[in-house]
Parts: sequence; C-alpha cells; structure tokens
Amino acid sequence: MPDTQTIPEPRARVRSMKEYHPPLGCRDALRLDFNENTVACSPAVRNVLSRIAAGDLTRYPERAPVEAKVARHLGLVPEQIALTNGVDEAIHVLFEAFLEAGDELLLPVPTYTMYEVYASATDASVVAVQAGDDLQFPFERLLAAITPRTKIIAIANPNSPAGSVASREQILAIARRAPHAVILVDEAYFHFHGETVIDLIGIQPNLVVARTFSKAYGLAGLRVGVLAAPVDLMQWIRRVLSPYSVNSVALACLPAALDDDAYITSYATEVRAARTQFEATLDQANIRWWPSAANFVLVDIGPRHADFVRRMHAAGVLVRDRSNDPGCDGRVRITIGTREQMRHAASALHQAIAAIRAEGDKP
Ligand SMILES: Cc1ncc(COP(=O)(O)O)c(C=O)c1O
Repeated sequence: MPDTQTIPEPRARVRSMKEYHPPLGCRDALRLDFNENTVACSPAVRNVLSRIAAGDLTRYPERAPVEAKVARHLGLVPEQIALTNGVDEAIHVLFEAFLEAGDELLLPVPTYTMYEVYASATDASVVAVQAGDDLQFPFERLLAAITPRTKIIAIANPNSPAGSVASREQILAIARRAPHAVILVDEAYFHFHGETVIDLIGIQPNLVVARTFSKAYGLAGLRVGVLAAPVDLMQWIRRVLSPYSVNSVALACLPAALDDDAYITSYATEVRAARTQFEATLDQANIRWWPSAANFVLVDIGPRHADFVRRMHAAGVLVRDRSNDPGCDGRVRITIGTREQMRHAASALHQAIAAIRAEGDKP
C-alpha cells in the first residue's frame, strides 16, 4: 500500500468544468423563471397518473411502443426518433456521439446554457457567434463562421433567452453550407411558435430536431424529450443512449399527452394572448423588450436587475436574471403564463419599477 492517499483523476476537460446548478431553490410562488407550463398538464395525463400502481414500477421501462406512437404523431418512422430524458439528454448524447478533439460546436449566443455545459465535457471547442443588440438570429455571421472543423451547429428555435427565431430558409442554407456538420434545431418552444423543420428529417441529411414535453405539455418533472434524426445519424446516437433513460411513468403518460392536442392548442393560444397583453404592460411601463415567439419575454431592466428580481420575488413572482448571458447585461427573462397570472405579474412589475425609479435609477 502507498503511504500517501491518492484519488483517481478525471479527464482534463472535466477538471476544468464547473458544476451547473440551475437557480431552483424554494419556488413556492408564481413560477415565471423556467419557461414551464404555469398551470398543469392535460387532465388526460393526470388520469393516467392516478392509475399507475406500485407494481408497475417493478418492470424496466419499454420505450419502443411509445416511440412508435411518437414517431407517428410527428409524421416520421420509429427508426428516425429516440425518446430521451428531456432534450437535455438528447443534446448530451448527440454531443457524445459526434464531438471529438479538434471539432467545433458553433453556437449563436446568447442561447440555451446546456449546449455549452455538455460541449465542455467533450474535447471539442465552442465557437460562439454573438447576436447583435436586437438579439435576432445572427444568420450571416453564423454562415461566415462555418469551417471544415464545424461538427455541430446548435440552433434553438425559438431561441432563449430572447425568443428570436431562425427561418426555415436560413436553417436550410446553413445545413447546405455545412454538409459535414450536424445541424441541431432545438424546437423546445415549438408549440408557441408553430413553425417547424421536422418535416425535413431524412430529406436534409444532416438535420436533427429536438422537441420536449417540458414546456407546453407541462411535464418538465417527468423528463421526456424527443430527438428526430435521419436513420443514418440515429444509428450512432442510439449507441450512446441509455436504454432505460426514459422512465416507465413518463412512458405511460406520453400517449395520453399526445392524444390531447386540444389541450396543448388551448394552452399555447392562452399564452400568446397573455404575451400580447404583457407586451402592452411593458410598453406602458416604458421598458424595452425583445419580440418573442416563445412563452417568455426578455426585458431590459438595467443596472438594478438583481434588485428587480428580488422585488418581484418578494411580491410572489419568480423571474430569471439573464445578466450573465453574453450581450444581456441588465436583462431579465419573464415566462408568460395565463392572462390572469400575467396581470398579477404586471402589477408586481409596476411596483418594482416604480420603487427603482423612485431611487433615481434606470429603467
Ligand atoms: C432551448 C431549450 N432546449 C431545451 C430545454 C430543456 O428541455 P428539457 O426539459 O426537455 O431537458 C430548454 C429548457 O429551458 C430550452 O430552453
């Protein structure tokens, strides 16, 4: 036995990573901080949940029948889709399957945090393409940043934190300019936007699309996502995907969630109406905001952003400070819920802004 105690070392890239802790904490308030459904999932899903027995949990989850149903729902064949433990796992397995030393992950920024987190665990490097002050999709700059080393281009569409969008033509132009790279289009907020490129799966050979059940469906706690990819790419992705990463409760609920299209349509319609109503509130309060195609709006609070978030919390409304995102100093993201919830958020916002202005500060 050696006399000094040594412990095993992780890979160099892991040593330089930091743990990522989303700011969850105590969230007993109106949750406008994580872009979740602010009401509930479909009653049909609740019905399934109430019938799940303890004995059902003794079995390993069988994903294939549910994958077949999801594929049909999306107009694809089962070989073109994989259910994942949220879109987060889809991103993780895609990066594990494709990124190696010398490769570049191309990202328009600001964008969803987990792309960078999972990329940092690989030996690839991240090439960030900054959006301008309007936070629109930086199409021309992204095209110009494509190199022979570009291996994945991750496009959240709509993007977070601003809710900006890339058009179908722009996505196709990028996919054609980088045939050697995988183009991931993350459609986590699809139901609020209504536009998709999922119909191009298998037609554009380097295009993959991710969808989630965490947002409009109201099932963030179940952790289910879908990755859609051409069969030629999916065969590699499946090699790194855990066979049981989607649990049996999630699998039991998905068919009911998918069948209740009316619920999703009515929730997305309500959120869009609430978003329009809330934009008017922001205009009245003379606060700059960025046009969003998703269930959130980014607002410019300025130097007192942390104080604003604290005051909103004290009034019972959680919102998310995005000041640390590239190009987002002073900006806060507010999830859009129902019109009634947003009236409550609007009155909290008016009070917080009035208090900050009374102290002579922007906004
Ligand atoms: C663009 C985007 N993709 C993916 C996710 C995470 O999805 P999931 O809960 O399915 O892992 C989020 C969550 O905020 C997101 O904003």
